[in-house]
Amino acid sequence: MTNWKHGYFADAGYVFGHQAETMPAWLQWAALIQGHVLPRKGFRYLDAGCGQGLNLLLAAAANPDSEFVGVDFMPEHIAHARQLAAQCKLSNVSFIEGDFVELARDPSPLGMFDYAVCHGITTWIAPTVKAALFEWIGQSLQPGGIFYNSYNTYPGWLSTVPFQHLVLLQQRSKSGTQALSAAQQLMAQLQATGSPLFEALPKLSSRLESLKKSDPAYLVQEYNNQSWQPVFVSQMIEAMAAVKLSYLGTATLAEAHNLIPSAERQALVDSEPDPILREQLRDLAVNQLFRRDLYVKGQRRPWRPQQALHLAEFRFVRNPTKARPEPGAPYPIKGGVIEIDGNAEFYGAMLDSVEACGAQGYSAGADLASGTDEERSTLLTVMSLLLHAGYVELRMGDDQGAGVQTGMRTNRVLAQHAVQGAPYRYAVLPLAAAAHSMSDADMMMLHYQFEGVAASQWTERLGADLLAAGSKSVQPGEALGDAATRPQLINALVQTFRDIKLPYLISMKAVPTHL
Ligand SMILES: C[S@@+](CC[C@H](N)C(=O)[O-])C[C@H]1O[C@@H](n2cnc3c(N)ncnc32)[C@H](O)[C@@H]1O
Repeated sequence: MTNWKHGYFADAGYVFGHQAETMPAWLQWAALIQGHVLPRKGFRYLDAGCGQGLNLLLAAAANPDSEFVGVDFMPEHIAHARQLAAQCKLSNVSFIEGDFVELARDPSPLGMFDYAVCHGITTWIAPTVKAALFEWIGQSLQPGGIFYNSYNTYPGWLSTVPFQHLVLLQQRSKSGTQALSAAQQLMAQLQATGSPLFEALPKLSSRLESLKKSDPAYLVQEYNNQSWQPVFVSQMIEAMAAVKLSYLGTATLAEAHNLIPSAERQALVDSEPDPILREQLRDLAVNQLFRRDLYVKGQRRPWRPQQALHLAEFRFVRNPTKARPEPGAPYPIKGGVIEIDGNAEFYGAMLDSVEACGAQGYSAGADLASGTDEERSTLLTVMSLLLHAGYVELRMGDDQGAGVQTGMRTNRVLAQHAVQGAPYRYAVLPLAAAAHSMSDADMMMLHYQFEGVAASQWTERLGADLLAAGSKSVQPGEALGDAATRPQLINALVQTFRDIKLPYLISMKAVPTHL
């Protein structure tokens, strides 16, 4: 019998992550601005290689009228995901222990899907497994369905190839984490002894430096796979075309617009008539390293007036946890490889418009209907960039909808686990049909709100709970401090949460005002 792992590093469980770009509402916006209409309700959504399942669970809790299926071949992942889903009493999500190769042989038991996502899978698995996965996705998507496929790409990852090769050589005689550190050590020695490799690959040293700050559970699944193999976008587009999936665009919203930070390079890309070559040139122009591609099985193009109507259905609210820059300062927007400084006046005015609409949210409908083509395109770009950078959030859900109950119920369970040390750092935002990033301390305070802990006790409880959970920092990058400085730090944290984040979570129906 062949080994069930197919060369994949499956010796340790993966991290408990969340990717905003995989949320159905985000995909609906991303698809629409790039010319494709997706169903908003009653859809079926597949997460192929769902890992620990937290991301899928957040999506399911935020979209209770749709059905979510997660597949992964690591029993540890499925056991975790099923238990958590049962605790959250989510009946619209199921987790299947399954192998892509087997599923490609007979996809019928899982049925057809409108959405399929593979986050961080397709350039880490063996070629035969990848072929099976693509075959399965191609067969299982409904006509008009969408496939989100995120993966490592060239040229950005070229500089890391020698290091990953060393990890695999070390892994012949060592465990995953030992192999990683041995390869890191060898690289450090090569650098210290002046190897010209570092001159030939200038990005290598910053990549090695970044390893020191990364979660080991992520690192082993990133670097220790036998079949780790970034691909050029043109290769991916061609592989997808073979299973009836055509390239639509990207879920990295900042990259969905022509924003290469050099007019000459942008013009070079734009002048290329061949769409595949143009996409490849774009990656070379920005040294792309990670793509979040969107592929469709038959494009459902809206007619132009229809597209305006669909766009008008999307509303945006201000996310107050993302502070505005100082008056007059530009709006920094970083997304994928794109980094721009949004014009202070223009972006500021857009945020004013959003804020003026309050909790019901701003719809671009009227502005889109009255604007010129250029104004329309600028408006869509700015809204996408503000969403991408987190200044605004989508306002999709219904105040009285079922998502409010499933979202709050899920948040209550996640917060309870977080107090007991679980690394869950996201809360469902029911009205955004999305999830929100939280720190350990935020999750604990969310728990206090659910449990009705008196405000006067929060500071003391939080100090004790952070210590008990073994947290080393109050916020990422901010040390927990010693017994003398800690109370002040924690008090400030409680104040900020109560003044800014909690009102936002309440307004988005993530947690009740009072129980
Ligand atoms: C890097 S993790 C990403 C997990 C998840 N998408 C996330 O972003 O957190 C890749 C996942 O693919 C799963 N996987 C790899 N090969 C597989 C196969 N042949 N069949 C099913 N799952 C597989 C692994 O178990 C792992 O959970």
